[in-house]
Amino acid sequence: MCPEKIMPDVTPSTIASVPTPRRGFFITLEGGEGAGKSTQSHRLAQRLRTFGLHVQETREPGGSPRAEALRKVLLSGQVASLGPAAEALLFSAARIDHLDQTIRPALAGGVTVICDRFADSTRAYQGTLGNVDTRLIRAMERVAVGTTTPDLTLILDLPAETGLARAARRRTGAIDRFEAEDLSFHRALRNSFLDIAAAEPRRCRVIDGDQPQDDVAEAIWHAVEDRLLAVEHRYALPPAHTA
Ligand SMILES: Nc1ncnc2c1ncn2[C@@H]1O[C@H](COP(=O)(O)OP(=O)(O)OP(=O)(O)O)[C@@H](O)[C@H]1O
Ligand SMILES: [Mg+2]
Repeated sequence: MCPEKIMPDVTPSTIASVPTPRRGFFITLEGGEGAGKSTQSHRLAQRLRTFGLHVQETREPGGSPRAEALRKVLLSGQVASLGPAAEALLFSAARIDHLDQTIRPALAGGVTVICDRFADSTRAYQGTLGNVDTRLIRAMERVAVGTTTPDLTLILDLPAETGLARAARRRTGAIDRFEAEDLSFHRALRNSFLDIAAAEPRRCRVIDGDQPQDDVAEAIWHAVEDRLLAVEHRYALPPAHTA
């Protein structure tokens, strides 16, 4: 008696009919200090996992061993004395490694990536606040990010005072490089993120971060549902996947 056939015959035509795995979704969270990015990244990841999606949570600066080493230097403030252009270069160096080692492999494997801060933070902190020439910021972004742009960026918006007060309540160790800046810096930062959102409304959604955590999570969920449905259409999944 023949053993039970557990694998179909593999022929060139069956290989050709296997749909190419869809790239995972790439979601970033941005906003000022204490806006709730880390809290909400985690909540969103948990919720997406309940739908069977594979989700990788990551963060910037950092997200790969070499980039985490650069994070320590960047947030310690040691690089600040070199000026915002040098800071932007180091953030970009960390981003190159993070994308190569963590983000792109995950997306290519169909994993949804949720990243706590990404390239918009460099635009806002070093570009707008640090007065680094926009052309330089954009050039670095082209080199580091290339075509791996987020499908959705959630910009958590709230008054600078509220975010700083939350960050201060949460703090256990030393104040970091950017928390140490004054209130006018953090107000300008808020405006910079809102400007980014206004300039790229397809990619960015502004979420009111000044409400209870559950309400923020719900607003984020609506934005994710909307955007990911639109992205699914863009990928035009083959019938075998949409059935
Ligand atoms: N909607 C909310 N209302 C009140 N407190 C909140 C809310 N969301 C988060 N928090 C609290 O505020 C603090 C900062 O939140 P979180 O660490 O998520 O912010 P963050 O944007 O990641 O900050 P940072 O920029 O410093 O990394 C935490 O103690 C968190 O529990
Ligand atoms: Mg955080």
